[in-house]
Amino acid sequence: MIQELSYVGIASPRAEEWRSYGTDFLGAMLTEDGPDGAVRLAVDDINYRIAIHPGTEDEFRYAGWGLANETDLRAYVDQLTEQGIDVQWGDARLCRERQVAELAWFCDPWGLRHELTWGKAALPLSFRPGRAMKGRFVTGGQGLGHVVFEVPDIEAANKFYSSLLGFRLSDRIIGDSFHVRFYHINGRHHSLALSQNPGHIGFNHMMLEYEEMDDLGTAIDLQAAHGVETMQTLGRHTNDLMTSTYVASPSGLQIELGHGGLVVDDLSWVARTFHKPSYWGHKRPTGRTSRPGILKALD
Ligand SMILES: [Fe+2]
Repeated sequence: MIQELSYVGIASPRAEEWRSYGTDFLGAMLTEDGPDGAVRLAVDDINYRIAIHPGTEDEFRYAGWGLANETDLRAYVDQLTEQGIDVQWGDARLCRERQVAELAWFCDPWGLRHELTWGKAALPLSFRPGRAMKGRFVTGGQGLGHVVFEVPDIEAANKFYSSLLGFRLSDRIIGDSFHVRFYHINGRHHSLALSQNPGHIGFNHMMLEYEEMDDLGTAIDLQAAHGVETMQTLGRHTNDLMTSTYVASPSGLQIELGHGGLVVDDLSWVARTFHKPSYWGHKRPTGRTSRPGILKALD
């Protein structure tokens, strides 16, 4: 089974801007560039978890999911293959680039690439935040954070991610104009969410969680100096209880910066349905100019 969201890769013509955005604003640490010049950021002692590859357009490239060990990875790949998913093993060059022991990958029915890995390289005591921070990012057993994809058909996507891949439903938020499903794979309330957007596929946002509220507050203070647009104001979610704000990045991708997310116990968890996403806040400022996610229209 998948145990964690391990890493994320996008491509962007503005990849270079992440060197300052990722460190001076987010508080991540710049690590060694990828072989193609990708800007790579660490948020803990794992060598890197966020890669922004140079590219001609903003693009989602891959999400990397961590499994416990080689036995689990092989068993999981066999299971997906038996279910008819076309899973390919990555070669030594790709494993070196991603800094993992082994890697297999497949695409979901709409073309989103997922990589299954174990043994990601880590260097203890290596993480130093890119700007003054009181605490660290919440990672460890909860992985990098969460990713939210927009999918054309929520029922079909639920079947693929839940029944085939094994993501466990935490809850749903359903309104007149939205249907979002949230899934856990460890204690983090959700590592993955899927939001219905007919005719589209894309990467809506990635969430990073600060241990300390003060580090979230500092990010909000730093927005003006770094010209970072607010996509959703500070608010608190009904389902994972995260206090968070959504901000633009240099690459069309929204980043949710959060604090205080709920930790779930899978053995006793019962999925709920909510009809609003937030207790308060999370308002979308009028006149936003940044795009809310990296979206592609399907033919
Ligand atoms: Fe989120």
